[in-house]
Amino acid sequence: MPAQRKLRVGLLFGGNSSEHDISLLSAASVIRHLDAEKYDVFPIGITREGVWLPGIKPVEFIAAEDHMHSSQTSGQKNFETFPEALTLSIKLSTPGEGLDVVFPVLHGQNGEDGTVQGLLELADLPYVGCGIMGSALGMDKEKARLIFRSLGLPVVNSLSYRSSIWKISPERILDAVEERLGYPNFVKPASLGSSIGVSKVYDRGGLRRAIQNAVEYDHKFLVEQAINCRELECSVLGNDEPMVSAVGEVFYTGEFYDYYAKYQDERSHTVVPASISPALVEEMRFLAIQAFQALDLSGMARVDFFLERETEKIFINEVNTLPSLTNQCMYSKLCEYSGLPYTHLLDRLIELALERHAHRHRLKRAHNCN
Ligand SMILES: Nc1ncnc2c1ncn2[C@@H]1O[C@H](COP(=O)(O)OP(=O)(O)O)[C@@H](O)[C@H]1O
Ligand SMILES: [Mg+2]
Repeated sequence: MPAQRKLRVGLLFGGNSSEHDISLLSAASVIRHLDAEKYDVFPIGITREGVWLPGIKPVEFIAAEDHMHSSQTSGQKNFETFPEALTLSIKLSTPGEGLDVVFPVLHGQNGEDGTVQGLLELADLPYVGCGIMGSALGMDKEKARLIFRSLGLPVVNSLSYRSSIWKISPERILDAVEERLGYPNFVKPASLGSSIGVSKVYDRGGLRRAIQNAVEYDHKFLVEQAINCRELECSVLGNDEPMVSAVGEVFYTGEFYDYYAKYQDERSHTVVPASISPALVEEMRFLAIQAFQALDLSGMARVDFFLERETEKIFINEVNTLPSLTNQCMYSKLCEYSGLPYTHLLDRLIELALERHAHRHRLKRAHNCN
């Protein structure tokens, strides 16, 4: 019997996003751990400007980005962005020659938010993770909360505004926040990650500065009642019948889990499984599946919770549809603890991508009137 051909996996990393650097770490780990007996990996780096660099590994990518910057500033070739990306994906999707599946190891805007997913849908390529709508909803904290609330899922009280309204009537917004939420509260851009643009505020002056900062990043922002909480996370993996992992907890020393605490402070750590009662674990696992299904997610998501210290009330904070994906991060650790080691997790993510694509292909595309 002829040996089975290896699957060709296109691995997208980097990206035109404020979480570019985190993607490089995730991608390096995924490439190292994808089973070489099963897959031929074709890495595609995307620069901060959105230029696609096919065939480059994360380790070579940083030098290539630096080189591009210096050649651009010295007036040499300016690279194309979107048309190049589109041509590339169409070329790569030629049956029998191109990629079998794409693994977007991209975090944040232009990667986790449905944009790249749309491109891959058009190119008819199977891809790991959520589809367009799930990705977009997972990214938009305002819309996700709206759906969670409408289903009776527990979320923290919040208000959201467009930055254009903030520019016209800031005092009205400050008044509304003080009247309806009080202090302390959290201000955050609607569609970012890694705590970028997130601030904790205690008074009107701080609120004004925090909103001013958040609108630099996004056209919408949220203000949310601050909860005195523990932070717990759960991994969900699957398509229509997802599995849910154990619950893990994150620990940090600062005021909240900010960018420094997430990626730089060596005192931050995670504990798997979290030390909470079995009843709370079951409630979180149940809510994690509810959140996954409410937003029409598929493939994977990490669902993050706040557990209020005084009341032990659980709030869903957010879902991350492309969470950090190194072998040491919470998503992978939780899967590993629940019986799926990292390399097998990567296999399963690819399988789920292929299953979802095959399922969509079986659907009728047109109605025959005759
Ligand atoms: N309402 C809140 N109450 C308490 N802490 C919060 C609240 N909102 C955000 N935080 C803190 O800020 C961190 C980042 O906020 P989050 O909404 O998760 O944004 P991101 O998508 O950037 O991770 C949280 O992990 C938590 O530490
Ligand atoms: Mg978060």
